[in-house]
Amino acid sequence: MASFRSLDAFSPKGLRVLVRVDLNVPMQHGEISDPSRIERVAETITTLADGGARVVILSHFGRPRGIVTPSMSLAPLVEPLSRALGGRSVGFVDDCIGESAEAAVAALDDGDILLLENLRFHGGEETNDDDFADALARLGDAYVGDAFSAAHRAHGSVVGVAKRLPAYAGRLMQSELEALDAALENPKRPLAAVIGGAKVSSKLAVLGNLLERVDMLIIGGGMANTFLHAQGIAVGKSLCERDMADTARDIMARAAARGCEIILPSDGVTATRFADGAAQTVTPIDAVGDDAMILDIGPDSAAAIAERLEHVATLVWNGPLGAFELDGFDHGTNVVARAAARLSQAGRLVSVAGGGDTVAALAHAGALAGFTYVSTAGGAFLEWLEGKPLPGVAALQP
Ligand code: 3PG
Ligand code: MG
Repeated sequence: MASFRSLDAFSPKGLRVLVRVDLNVPMQHGEISDPSRIERVAETITTLADGGARVVILSHFGRPRGIVTPSMSLAPLVEPLSRALGGRSVGFVDDCIGESAEAAVAALDDGDILLLENLRFHGGEETNDDDFADALARLGDAYVGDAFSAAHRAHGSVVGVAKRLPAYAGRLMQSELEALDAALENPKRPLAAVIGGAKVSSKLAVLGNLLERVDMLIIGGGMANTFLHAQGIAVGKSLCERDMADTARDIMARAAARGCEIILPSDGVTATRFADGAAQTVTPIDAVGDDAMILDIGPDSAAAIAERLEHVATLVWNGPLGAFELDGFDHGTNVVARAAARLSQAGRLVSVAGGGDTVAALAHAGALAGFTYVSTAGGAFLEWLEGKPLPGVAALQP
């Protein structure tokens, strides 16, 4: 596993500690629709504050591209953050560098907590500009990286400051790295991956890396259609990247050469419209009608995958197996997710999930809490699945 110094090796009393977190929470109609990212950084912040640190919190929100954009201010997150911290008070300052930030930091006492305004209001954050990183680093005596979900961004607050100050991994970063290590670097075998989602093209690098590492690659969602088509199976009007057929065949050949088994659906749930409650037909996968779209894996496939999971020790999951967001096409994802959750709760499976739509799909299945570990990361989880080094993790290496 990537080596890093954890908070156990840090005595923060009296120090100004810059803590990079990811408060980029999803919003719907002005409300936070999933507060997990806020809740899961609480432990790091309270640990530091209880240790007498003067805690200075750094985060981005949205993509304001260097322009002060009031709708992307972090000010509305002060209250939810304070709640997640058990009601501790959280100060706020309307810039992340410069005079106002310096004055607010200078006024902190040991144990105080201050949130700085959105880092991305300054263009230097995304370009990792030296002057910007210097200005941030002036505000602290030490740095704690706790934004695994932003670790794929080589930005000023993720990489630049970490290089300028003594750097530590926060509790959330540590738990993400430990869970990922147990899933892919040092897993108990057999190791399986469930990879779903719409397109092969967006997960090509993921599939290429996984087939080198896992014993079983279970493919569902729209991208399964591309693999079926590549094997000469007609998929009707299903989502299918026909120009990726050679690529799909190459992936299958490489997997076979490595002894990695690829599992594709043997039946499907089809409809002629992509719509809630559309009339559906369950068909063997080689009997999909010309007008039909495969919108979910079929019940035989779901049961077969759930059965295979009985004999697996470790599971990595990214992406839904069908159009779970449509009424009537969530069955496959639900069955397999619930099986994984049940086996995990029984102590028979280590299951790690993350990335994009995944958390929503598992939550919809009522299976989220049953997984061994659910990452807070979207894009960073995918880049990790691709086997790419994450700059925000590399920056924490002593
Ligand atoms: C995320 O939500 O994936 C992270 O906060 C990173 O955000 P970004 O994709 O805008 O860099
Ligand atoms: Mg993103």
